[in-house]
Amino acid sequence: MDLTGKVAVVTGSGRGLGLGYARALAAAGASVVVNDVDQQAVDAAVRGIEAAGGTAVGVAAAVGETATAEELVATAVQRFGRLDVLVTNAGILRDRVLWRMTDADFDDVVRVHLRGTFTCARAAAVRMREQGDGGRLILIGSPAGQRGNFGQTNYAAAKAGIAAMARTWAMELARAHITVNAVIPVAATEMTKTIPAFAPAIEEAERTGAPLPDWLRRDEGLGSVEDVAGLITFLASDASATVTGQAIGVGGDRLALWTHPQEKKADLRDGGWSADEIAAAWADGVGAEPETFGIPAPQSPAGD
Ligand SMILES: NC(=O)c1ccc[n+]([C@@H]2O[C@H](COP(=O)([O-])OP(=O)(O)OC[C@H]3O[C@@H](n4cnc5c(N)ncnc54)[C@H](O)[C@@H]3O)[C@@H](O)[C@H]2O)c1
Repeated sequence: MDLTGKVAVVTGSGRGLGLGYARALAAAGASVVVNDVDQQAVDAAVRGIEAAGGTAVGVAAAVGETATAEELVATAVQRFGRLDVLVTNAGILRDRVLWRMTDADFDDVVRVHLRGTFTCARAAAVRMREQGDGGRLILIGSPAGQRGNFGQTNYAAAKAGIAAMARTWAMELARAHITVNAVIPVAATEMTKTIPAFAPAIEEAERTGAPLPDWLRRDEGLGSVEDVAGLITFLASDASATVTGQAIGVGGDRLALWTHPQEKKADLRDGGWSADEIAAAWADGVGAEPETFGIPAPQSPAGD
């Protein structure tokens, strides 16, 4: 996959998945704007990309504010002349059950993920529309946003909102040939190492250097950062020109297409539905096969 001549911004790319995306895009020939809140991580990421023969520049700033979004796009344009690809990856977790979640927990997560994605995509869309030769917005969602997840009110809301924005922007930007997709990744990073069902296998793999076991790679779709990066490179490339408005899952040995919400069953009644009529019709009508919700708890074959 050759991205020579393309310019990409990757938010939150000082470490974890974002660093993997920045490295992969640079290895394919793109010039990359590396961003993170952590200045040292930014500097190390840029050095690493350059040492591998790639081209990168760093911007240490917090995604969420419009000024950061504009600085990222301006840096791409000033240093590399244009902007072709935006990956909105920056993220934080502030997990707590609903009744313990504070306003700050909610606002901080929504600011980085949802507002960060909105402000960066808006700035990128303005520039890409001016350039007039299309572009790629690659938004990062999560299984938690697709299905809901215990303890993640703020994160699930932000990630579900990101998937909704991807569908909306795919419509709005189609005429400008700017594709917009949501990637739903799963990978062993600082963020997922703490999940109790994953932690022992990830620690074991790190200690021994062996790959993660098959049940994680195939059933849970959990693998390395590099396993996810291929999809980002594909979506950044000309090969994905017709792929837009999709939520694409990737991780370990899995590549998956997520469904979008739609009416599953509808009953019709002349004059509409009173509460009593809904109660009478529910069990054999639209309520006959209720939807499941929540990410199922991971199950190792060993039962541990
Ligand atoms: N790891 C997974 O399995 C997984 C699953 C689903 C979704 N995701 C999403 O993928 C993205 C990356 O996750 P990760 O696992 O690599 O996490 P990570 O914590 O390893 O990396 C996130 C990076 O974002 C940076 N960051 C945080 N706030 C920022 C801000 N305001 N501005 C700029 N940078 C900021 C952090 O400093 C860090 O370097 C996140 O959006 C996350 O929600 C990850």
